Amino acid sequence: MSAGHRPGQSNPPVHVAIIMDGNGRWAQMRGLPRQEGHRRGLEALRSTVRNAGELGVKVLTLYSFSTENWRRPATEVSFLLGLLRRFVEKDLAELKASGVRVRIIGRRDDLTPDLVRLVEHAETATRDNTRMTLVVAFNYGARDEIVRAARRLAADAAAGRIDATAIDEDMLGLHLDTADLPDPELVIRTSGETRISNFLLWQAAYAEFVFTPVLWPDFDRAALEAALAEYARRERRFGGVPEALDRKVGAA
Ligand code: FPP
Repeated sequence: MSAGHRPGQSNPPVHVAIIMDGNGRWAQMRGLPRQEGHRRGLEALRSTVRNAGELGVKVLTLYSFSTENWRRPATEVSFLLGLLRRFVEKDLAELKASGVRVRIIGRRDDLTPDLVRLVEHAETATRDNTRMTLVVAFNYGARDEIVRAARRLAADAAAGRIDATAIDEDMLGLHLDTADLPDPELVIRTSGETRISNFLLWQAAYAEFVFTPVLWPDFDRAALEAALAEYARRERRFGGVPEALDRKVGAA
């Protein structure tokens, strides 16, 4: 039984993905610079990794920087790049010791070579960890990810390595950045916004969505537990019939 899981409680989702939104508004409400909101957002990220692990979540994906975020002022962009660097440098030892495997998804070719090396080091150093996988979506956009996968498949087909007619959902899925990860069952977005914003478009095809008004820097254990409880209340049908009905039909 996973930590935090009590008999009679439904199982937590294996993979939870979060759109961490509202750092800017959190700062603005306090008359603070936006950067302070991101700094506090990193604190919320750290505590969410701990809480999710304790609550039995096996994969946690956090949307940290989107392919669209480059449009923000240069100072904010470099601050966010610096936060990723600081996070990897400062937290890697603890993540490693607590059994967390780190993965970064998104495109790497816009990142500086030293940041790419740092990210690769974090992945290599934690690759044997099995307690939980932390997936940091950085310079990530789902359409970009699907296009990159399509290009690789097209190149394989053009080179005769695969037959184009053999391309199916499984094969495309295996060319995404998340190839070895299960799809998220739950996507949470904070700050009251109700958009998916180019996040895991392929992988979230059957996910439940929970939108909470909590601003990301305030997203604490209670907020995570509330989202998991909401997930547990929902019936998951995968386009079929409810489980109870399915049993009745089967028995008839
Ligand atoms: C959205 O808030 C948040 C982001 C664009 C960045 C998320 C970053 C963190 C949580 C910090 C940790 C970062 C890394 C890289 C590990 P917003 O700025 O869009 O808020 P607003 O909508 O209120 O302006």
